[in-house]
Amino acid sequence: KEVEKIRESLLMWYDKNQRELPWRERSDCDEEEGAKRAYGVWVSEVMLQQTRVQTVIDYYNRWMKKWPTIYHLAKASLEEVNEMWAGLGYYRRARFLLEGAKMIVGGADGFPNTVSTLRKVPGIGNYTAGAIASIAFKEVVPVVDGNVIRVLARLKAISANPKDSLTIKNFWKLAAQLVDTSRPGDFNQSLMELGATVCTPLNPSCTSCPVSDQCRAFSMSKNDNSILVTDY
Ligand code: ADE
Repeated sequence: KEVEKIRESLLMWYDKNQRELPWRERSDCDEEEGAKRAYGVWVSEVMLQQTRVQTVIDYYNRWMKKWPTIYHLAKASLEEVNEMWAGLGYYRRARFLLEGAKMIVGGADGFPNTVSTLRKVPGIGNYTAGAIASIAFKEVVPVVDGNVIRVLARLKAISANPKDSLTIKNFWKLAAQLVDTSRPGDFNQSLMELGATVCTPLNPSCTSCPVSDQCRAFSMSKNDNSILVTDY
């Protein structure tokens, strides 16, 4: 019941408040659409791993203009890819994108569309696999990054060491119980979006939060108007 309320509130908030981002065109995907979308989600999520959204937008648009599909990318050279990546840092990520594209295009099975098959692509870990599978293919799987950990820690008033691998595992478990079964991709993005824009590390905007009624941190501290600040 509480889970239902959290899902519904987050999705309604996301529908109204999500930022317009180039990798977020809405479409209900059939299988082919899903594969097209997966490429864009993959590129954007890899770029977003160490870089802010505002910076990523330009890089993403330039990248997609040069290599609009995974087939275009698979024919690129490492030099071209590195040149396109200049300024983003962690060049290993660009090389993994190129290697992954070559592997997927060279294989017979099309774009991998589940977490377990995505994990076989070089450079794709739990986070990227969960993002692609849920956003592009509607697989009901969670996505956990720093923003999601902070949101969930506050929602459930969990104090724990965020660097501890057992802690991280538990947040994946918690996120898996929470993820909406009909709109997993939107739900996952709503958590990331909430963490980025409302449930910020400092001075979160609890008055505009769609799940403040369900938030244990908020209820614990609302009398003195201070917010439980966790270490995340
Ligand atoms: N940060 C990384 N990926 C994101 C996404 N898909 N939506 C919002 N913030 C993000």
